[in-house]
Amino acid sequence: MYKIICCTLVVALHVAVTAGNNLKYIYYNRDTHESLQCDMCPPGTFVKRHCTAQQRTECAPCPANHYADQWNDERECEYCSTVCKELQHVTQECNGTRPRECECAAGYFLEVEFCLPHTKCPPGYGVKQQGTPERDTVCAECPTGMYSDVSSSTAPCQKQTSCRKHRVSHEGSSTEDTKCMEENRSCKIDITLCEEALFRSRQASDSWSDVLLHRLPPTDLTSQQIESIRNNYEPKDQLFYLFKLYRNQSKGDNFSKQLRKDLKICEKGMLKEIGHIGLTVKHLTALMQSLPGRPLEKSDIENTMKNCPKRRQILKLLSLWREQNGGNTIEGLQRLTSNKLPKKLQKVMKRLDSFLSSVAMYRLYDKIILGITSTKTQLVKTDSLL
Ligand SMILES: *[C@@H]1O[C@H](CO)[C@@H](O)[C@H](O)[C@H]1NC(C)=O
Ligand SMILES: *[C@@H]1O[C@H](CO)[C@@H](O)[C@H](O)[C@H]1NC(C)=O
Ligand SMILES: *[C@@H]1O[C@H](CO)[C@@H](O)[C@H](O)[C@H]1NC(C)=O
Ligand SMILES: *[C@@H]1O[C@H](CO)[C@@H](O)[C@H](O)[C@H]1NC(C)=O
Repeated sequence: MYKIICCTLVVALHVAVTAGNNLKYIYYNRDTHESLQCDMCPPGTFVKRHCTAQQRTECAPCPANHYADQWNDERECEYCSTVCKELQHVTQECNGTRPRECECAAGYFLEVEFCLPHTKCPPGYGVKQQGTPERDTVCAECPTGMYSDVSSSTAPCQKQTSCRKHRVSHEGSSTEDTKCMEENRSCKIDITLCEEALFRSRQASDSWSDVLLHRLPPTDLTSQQIESIRNNYEPKDQLFYLFKLYRNQSKGDNFSKQLRKDLKICEKGMLKEIGHIGLTVKHLTALMQSLPGRPLEKSDIENTMKNCPKRRQILKLLSLWREQNGGNTIEGLQRLTSNKLPKKLQKVMKRLDSFLSSVAMYRLYDKIILGITSTKTQLVKTDSLL
């Protein structure tokens, strides 16, 4: 048997020619001295018998554990010999038309014969191209403004945090992010004047609260919470406390995102009105004394001056005043007796007052209410309002 196959293989000329659609090979029959063009066998089969002048090539399917992945004139199929190596897994089982194929496991690539782990880009370098089972990671140095502080085969360089110029506490590098100065906790304002101005003592009425209670984007507000607001606050304050709850619990829906943006714009406008005035403890003490209710302690004023940027000092003090007096800052400011204040402070308070009752504020209010009351939150551009 071996001998016959051997001889036939020798005399069969392994030349494939295309004739029409079929692949052919030239077979020289030693016994008859004929040269014949035989049909090749398709993938998954082998030549069981060469053609003769009367008969076409006879093909037979590859036996188990054998394959032929090409059109061929072979007398036997190839053995499925490939065995996957260490750290490799089979991606294609041997199946008659395909040999077994292996691939390195996740996180490894094939280097000559071995699966090696993907290179980790060191700090200062980021992944430019992730590795594949065939290819190693490509690293690149982080360009200016980017950084990587990890050794990783997946992490690209990241953009350095950008702080406002005067608030950088630690300059970034290719291996470190920029660190920004933390806003002094003690200078944080729980409820801003803008929030009060927009959600307090405006047109808010019973019916408004009703509409709003049913139209606020879904949050975790429970009916008990809403009921408790209704029972504990006057109608004109309900909207404000509802807003406080909503602000605390909303989870990044579009409306609350837009609201946050709108409030930022409002606060920016307010800081602009205050301007860069330098105020002394005496100025600020006078301001606090001109408000109704119990005035703040001297130490509150001193701490505020120490911890807060100049322009925020007035806002922080007003917020402390509100906490201490359980009051409404907007109403407090309306009852301010400004004639005893120094001139420059009078001017500031006047500007603040006109800002709070400006057309821009009413428009912002309308826009927010529109946002709440239209079922599909309509996001109107705010920048142009203030
Ligand atoms: C072998 O596997 C390949 C791809 O997985 C498939 O296309 C082909 O039809 C299979 N052959 C047989 C004979 O099952
Ligand atoms: C806001 O939420 C925090 C915790 O999620 C809670 O401690 C705090 O009392 C809430 N404030 C208001 C005003 O509901
Ligand atoms: C929120 O805004 C994004 C982008 O503007 C939009 O794709 C998404 O559909 C919005 N989601 C809702 C619930 O309106
Ligand atoms: C924050 O407060 C501390 C002490 O209370 C002070 O030393 C520091 O300068 C303040 N930082 C800013 C940015 O005002």
